[in-house]
Amino acid sequence: MTPVVKVDSLNKTYTGKLPVPVLHDINLEIGPSEMVALVGPSGAGKTTLLNIISTLDTPTEGKVLIRGTDVHQLSQRELNRFRRGHLGCIFQDDLLLDHLTALDNVMLPGRIARRRAKGREGCQEKGRIQQESICRCRRHSENA
Ligand SMILES: Nc1ncnc2c1ncn2[C@@H]1O[C@H](COP(=O)(O)OP(=O)(O)OP(=O)(O)O)[C@@H](O)[C@H]1O
Ligand SMILES: [Mg+2]
Repeated sequence: MTPVVKVDSLNKTYTGKLPVPVLHDINLEIGPSEMVALVGPSGAGKTTLLNIISTLDTPTEGKVLIRGTDVHQLSQRELNRFRRGHLGCIFQDDLLLDHLTALDNVMLPGRIARRRAKGREGCQEKGRIQQESICRCRRHSENA
């Protein structure tokens, strides 16, 4: 079965005044429905790897295949379409758009994809749950 994510001989060196080598020969396969936690000490390169897998950054060498597609070989236009259809990221900061409701934030990718908002009730339910979670987090941090 084709892995959902396959990382093949990945290397990453940040370039600048001095090169910063971070990832060395990373190989990884993640199958359908598999849940994976990436753990390691601060500075080990977790964010670097996640950014490369999620196409926010590019590798120095090596490949990332998502459902068999070599994502770093796609043109910008193809990559935009691919991201829209196949990738979702939940960032450490919520990165919600302040001027939209929680529901509209949840529905935004679908709207961009010009897909009909299938199961609006499902989306409303997700929006409600997200809104409650955000309120709970805010209450928690206010009380901390
Ligand atoms: N844009 C950059 N330019 C140069 N070096 C960078 C850049 N981004 C990260 N680094 C360096 O790469 C290394 C790995 O950083 P990264 O943020 O991937 O680690 P991390 O495992 O996510 O750490 P943390 O647990 O603190 O979030 C660190 O030494 C960091 O200083
Ligand atoms: Mg990090």
